[in-house]
Amino acid sequence: MSTNRKPYGPANPHPLSQLRTELLWEGKYDEYGNRREVEIAGVSMPMQKIETIDQPRSEAAAAGQLVMFEKNTRRLDDFRNMLIWGDNKLVMTALLRDFKGRVDLIYIDPPFDVGADFTMHVPIGEEDDTVEKDQSTLEMVAYRDTWGKGTDSYLHMLAERLVLARDLLSETGTIYIHIGPHIGCYAKVLCDDIFGKQSTAAEIAWQRVTAHGDSKRWGVIHDYILFYTRGERFKWEPQFGPYSEEYIKTKYNLELDGRRYRLDNTTSPNPRPNMMYIWRGYPPPAKGWRYELPTMERLFADGRIELPKRPDGRPQLRRFLDEMPGVPIGTVWTDISPVNSQALEDTGYDTQKPEALLERIISASSQQGDLVADLFCGAGTTGAVAERLGRRWIMADLGRFGVHTSRKRLIDLQRNLHAEEKPYRAFDVYNLGRYERQWWQKDALQGADEEHRRVVLEFFQAEMLTNAPSPLIHGRKGGALCHVDRIDSVFSRQEASIVAKAVAAAGGRECYCLAWEFEMDLRFTASALEQELGVKLKLIQIPREIMERNRRGPPPFLEVAVLKAEPVYRGPEGERSVDIKLTSFLPSLAEVPAKELEARKERVVRSGFDFIDFWAVDFEWSPDKPFNHNPPVARDARPSAVAIIGRLPAC
Ligand SMILES: C[S@@+](CC[C@H](N)C(=O)[O-])C[C@H]1O[C@@H](n2cnc3c(N)ncnc32)[C@H](O)[C@@H]1O
Repeated sequence: MSTNRKPYGPANPHPLSQLRTELLWEGKYDEYGNRREVEIAGVSMPMQKIETIDQPRSEAAAAGQLVMFEKNTRRLDDFRNMLIWGDNKLVMTALLRDFKGRVDLIYIDPPFDVGADFTMHVPIGEEDDTVEKDQSTLEMVAYRDTWGKGTDSYLHMLAERLVLARDLLSETGTIYIHIGPHIGCYAKVLCDDIFGKQSTAAEIAWQRVTAHGDSKRWGVIHDYILFYTRGERFKWEPQFGPYSEEYIKTKYNLELDGRRYRLDNTTSPNPRPNMMYIWRGYPPPAKGWRYELPTMERLFADGRIELPKRPDGRPQLRRFLDEMPGVPIGTVWTDISPVNSQALEDTGYDTQKPEALLERIISASSQQGDLVADLFCGAGTTGAVAERLGRRWIMADLGRFGVHTSRKRLIDLQRNLHAEEKPYRAFDVYNLGRYERQWWQKDALQGADEEHRRVVLEFFQAEMLTNAPSPLIHGRKGGALCHVDRIDSVFSRQEASIVAKAVAAAGGRECYCLAWEFEMDLRFTASALEQELGVKLKLIQIPREIMERNRRGPPPFLEVAVLKAEPVYRGPEGERSVDIKLTSFLPSLAEVPAKELEARKERVVRSGFDFIDFWAVDFEWSPDKPFNHNPPVARDARPSAVAIIGRLPAC
């Protein structure tokens, strides 16, 4: 068989022979051989502020005890720190609008344990009882996108995040990428590709566990922390560790007035013609003295220059051990232990990193007031250390538990800093929820309300009614009718009442009201309507999971939570104070892990309070403002809203 193709060889080199060193993974190039850009135009959406956390009250005040003088706040108002719930690809895309080139330091610790997931053990109630919290569908999807195609999908996920992170970095900014040993070498090549092969880059080995007793192979006991800079100039403050006993014994073996010291020469390292003077009868060294004459005299008077005992000796400089900074830290870190389960800093978050590790990173690569970001924040270690060290911070996590744990940790830290009269900053909690929904409607549903209803009813496994008796009735499931609220609205009392009347007029006795958001305490309105009209309204939360692109099976549709609280007034007129008493709380069953649902149902009904992890009152609440975690403005202010943040925050 003849072929017209010229044979490969020196005159016609095979393309493979001309490839440069490069890491390839599925998804790096498109079908035409072009390098895929990170798609941000289609996913750019604003963030929604859901809570503001300004000034923590002391534990005593929060517990309702009378506090005569709350401490003066030292809150810094130059910036509001940000904690964001959402996929960091979307989060970084949103952040680029305001923070492009403005972040001084990024630390990321992406999940890297194959087999690790978002499952978490959480304590319940006062007994020693824990449940395993399932991962949400969103978390499952992230996990699948990250690990679904093994190293390929992981590298693709990481490459996209690193490109966005690079664009957030300032000209003098730096990034640390914390990565597991089995993926570290790939990540290194990937980073070289994105940040450029630099002389400033470093590969830090953090010994995270002590040697394993594995006699059959080398025990893997370290993680990689890759360090890259945006440019050649970058912020850097060297870090030091203590000298070893051995070093001190051999090097600092002299003593003066109980202070250990060693001797150093007094010779200038470079030729200095202006330092060629005779000092106390000693001729200058070949390159000249290290110091000018007045400095030499001052050092001598301070006991810092030792005169030789032998006639042929030279004056020498005394270097005192207690004035030395220590050993400069290099790229092997063996002195920081993992978080111990008994440690105060332990939050119970499986992959939590030690504060000492972040303290070293943040101290080396940022200054007071600098902006530090962690886009895989987990338990919020970066934010906690940044806050303590006076840096501004932005953190994001996709997991509800990550956001919840970080939020709680930062509130506690604010409270401590406030009590110690140390400076701190307020922070806001954001999500991409409502906007993500609007984007989904625009993108996938082409903006049609009808299509939105169809998709919701299909996932709810209800029949869509084409000839409904009322425009407010959209479907039927079993013997009940269904109403689907609009995608961008909050289902209100007024709507509940109109829907109940429409259902009664159509002869129905039960109606599922499916909505993305509900006005507070709507379940009480629903009970009143049932009494009045004989129509049972079941308030069902539309699950976020239905927005998933490739979703087939229906996610659980669960009823909304209900809370009763009442103010209890104390003290005479003019000096009144108010306590807020929670009288009943029935968590949404969405808060209960699916696996535990049956076993827990009874407990949820008997003692819903066990599912409350934290609660707060907003004394100035209004529906168009985010929840404000503030102390009261006036002593007798009447609370207008109470938020219950359950074990799984409603963020
Ligand atoms: C190893 S943990 C980080 C632990 C953290 N350094 C600490 O000290 O607690 C990784 C975190 O990344 C989060 N994560 C995974 N994929 C994500 C994504 N696409 N967007 C945002 N966060 C993500 C997980 O929820 C998890 O909390």
